[in-house]
Amino acid sequence: MAKVAFIGLGVMGYPMAAHLKNKGGHDVTVFNRTAAKAEAWAKEHGGSHAPTPAAAADGADFVFCCVGNDDDLRSVTTGEGGAFETVKSGAIFIDNTTASADVARELAAIAAEKGFGFLDAPVSGGQAGAENGVLTVMVGGDQATFDTAKPVIESYAKMVGLMGDTGAGQLTKMMNQICIAGLVQGLSEAIHLGQAAGLDIKKVVDVISKGAAGSWQMENRHETMDAGQYEHGFAVDWMRKDLAICLEEANTQGVSLPVTALVDQFYAEVQRMGGNRWDTSALLARLNASGK
Ligand SMILES: NC(=O)c1ccc[n+]([C@@H]2O[C@H](COP(=O)([O-])OP(=O)(O)OC[C@H]3O[C@@H](n4cnc5c(N)ncnc54)[C@H](OP(=O)(O)O)[C@@H]3O)[C@@H](O)[C@H]2O)c1
Repeated sequence: MAKVAFIGLGVMGYPMAAHLKNKGGHDVTVFNRTAAKAEAWAKEHGGSHAPTPAAAADGADFVFCCVGNDDDLRSVTTGEGGAFETVKSGAIFIDNTTASADVARELAAIAAEKGFGFLDAPVSGGQAGAENGVLTVMVGGDQATFDTAKPVIESYAKMVGLMGDTGAGQLTKMMNQICIAGLVQGLSEAIHLGQAAGLDIKKVVDVISKGAAGSWQMENRHETMDAGQYEHGFAVDWMRKDLAICLEEANTQGVSLPVTALVDQFYAEVQRMGGNRWDTSALLARLNASGK
């Protein structure tokens, strides 16, 4: 049993922290900006809650974090009352936020100066993956730090992989999001054509999902897409945040991602339709709205 802190009890963090407590058997202290959520978590799961990230991280062996973007991450680490004020020497900070590789390198350098480890460890698997404790975790950092943290991370994961040095976890997550962007547009166009032609979408997917076109998105999203339901899943706002990170990194690397850039613009149109919190599969809503 380890002493663990968890910062950021959102859709993902709340159940992840619960798995660290209940499945991992760790002594968990949580922090959340909106304190009521931290109080509710502690009441539900029997752990403790702290008033600041620094207070939560004080004395912990492992400090987890899952907040929104780069600036949020800086705020809870190196900002006032941030966790980096108190993380003890020899401890490990594990960041599950989807953020840039640059911020991972920036924070890992500060952590090294202060004598504790840092892993960038973004996740895939969505809300259901977090609730069921079966996330895929893509980690960047050094082997020894990874080996120490892996059994603890496994409390909420079915797959934990070390992808390379600091930043490699975030770069892997970028590849993941690029794959999803192009794929969901393709799936949307296929369903758009099928609907126009009067095909039974469920019947079509039952067949083609077993062939070379099959995908997680096809299996898990075709029914809600066909029904025009998007009030669930992974929000368009978050996807645009992730694609901005991908396009920025592409710029740094001097490579072009034309389909990713185009799909990002399609998501901007979905936002203008009021779909900020709609699931990423709402690319079909944009096609349907065009009437063609
Ligand atoms: N949802 C998914 O399906 C999914 C899947 C994979 C990866 N992710 C990634 O995981 C991360 C979290 O996603 P989520 O869905 O859990 O988001 P969420 O439900 O919006 O939760 C965000 C959490 O971060 C906290 N936070 C945000 N900005 C903060 C700041 N400046 N200072 C302190 N706390 C701050 C929020 O606190 P408050 O409660 O006070 O707002 C909340 O606890 C994101 O990077 C997202 O891209 C999400």
